[in-house]
Amino acid sequence: MNVLFLDQSGQPGGAELCLADTAAHLRARSRVILFAHGPFEQMLRDRGVDVSVLEPSPRLSKIRKKSGLIDYLPALPELAGFLAALRKEIRGSDLVYLNTAKALLYGVAAGLGSGVPSVFHLHDLLIPEHFSRLNIRIITHAANRTRGVIGNSQATARAFQEAGGTAPVHVIPNGFDASRFAPLPGGAVLAAREEFHAGSAPVAAVFGRIARWKGQDLLLRAASEIPNLRVWVVGEAFFTGDDHRYAGELRELATSPALAGRVDFLGQRDDIPLLMQAADIIVHTSVAPEPFGRVVAEGMLSGRAVVASRAGSPAEMIRPGETGWLFAPGDAGELAAAIQNILAQPDRGRATGLLASAEARKQYSLSPVLEQTSRVLSGLSSL
Ligand code: UDP
Ligand code: GLC
Repeated sequence: MNVLFLDQSGQPGGAELCLADTAAHLRARSRVILFAHGPFEQMLRDRGVDVSVLEPSPRLSKIRKKSGLIDYLPALPELAGFLAALRKEIRGSDLVYLNTAKALLYGVAAGLGSGVPSVFHLHDLLIPEHFSRLNIRIITHAANRTRGVIGNSQATARAFQEAGGTAPVHVIPNGFDASRFAPLPGGAVLAAREEFHAGSAPVAAVFGRIARWKGQDLLLRAASEIPNLRVWVVGEAFFTGDDHRYAGELRELATSPALAGRVDFLGQRDDIPLLMQAADIIVHTSVAPEPFGRVVAEGMLSGRAVVASRAGSPAEMIRPGETGWLFAPGDAGELAAAIQNILAQPDRGRATGLLASAEARKQYSLSPVLEQTSRVLSGLSSL
């Protein structure tokens, strides 16, 4: 089987990191086309994956999750050329693996009449908090024309079906190389704490791209009520102008008198397992439901106390009080209380982390996830 992966982004978001593992696993018989240049391209090349970039016109690139008809219309004349180029690439493949919403829309349209089957990996929750109603309708309609959908969580699968999705759905979580999250040498962990000014103070860290719906400000607000807590914000703004504005607002907030000198912005990093082990508490703060939440699974694998926002998949991943803590989305007071609770009972925090790590190894280890994915792909392509 010869698989063509399509993804709209050149940035390494969670959907792209997930694709990188599958494409690297199938690299002998697959290739990837991205719709934008960026660091993700090189990341794939470094893993031996055949990757190229096919860029849509700037107007097509302006269409976003919340776009309405007004954004679609001016882009239509440019669509035909892009689809023709994509159609050439699709011919000759045995299966097209559509990894993002735009990959789905263009891939399905370009593949019409080619006879090449496609599968859609749905990494998003098709709900109004994330997409315009128009886009939910368009995406669901296009997804129903594929042979099947891979949903990254039960929550994602449910939302797809509630939106009118009728294509068969296979729920497969993201997988992780658990060996990367095994305990690291104490010296390296201490050095990371030193580098980011932790010393003996407790550290609460939030990981992930900076975006308003990821809610990093909640951790800053919670920390302003906990005087000795240090905060690490790990990740960068990737996608929209608002992501960059929000990053600026976070930096501003960090200079407030209640927080000054206690917050470090670490930027985009590739040593997440080390930083997770160097932190005491890993916080997930999304204010809109999270489709899956790689950072929650990684926090659990790291054996750290994880506090996550109770919406979307994290509410299914964590058993509160046993494998982590949950708080109401957007409630900085409840988050502060959970952090204080963990700091007051370090033994309980450690026990919770240990259990979480054992469970996460069972549920999210990469090899079984890749095997499950390969089985689904073979099944769909031979239908
Ligand atoms: N990540 C990273 N470096 C950073 C910040 C985040 O490699 O500086 C990774 C993180 O470890 C996780 C992914 O980015 O694997 C984010 O995925 P998640 O599903 O949590 O969120 P998304 O951005 O896809 O919505
Ligand atoms: C998307 C989602 C995130 C998920 C990732 C990988 O980026 O926002 O929740 O973990 O895809 O499936």
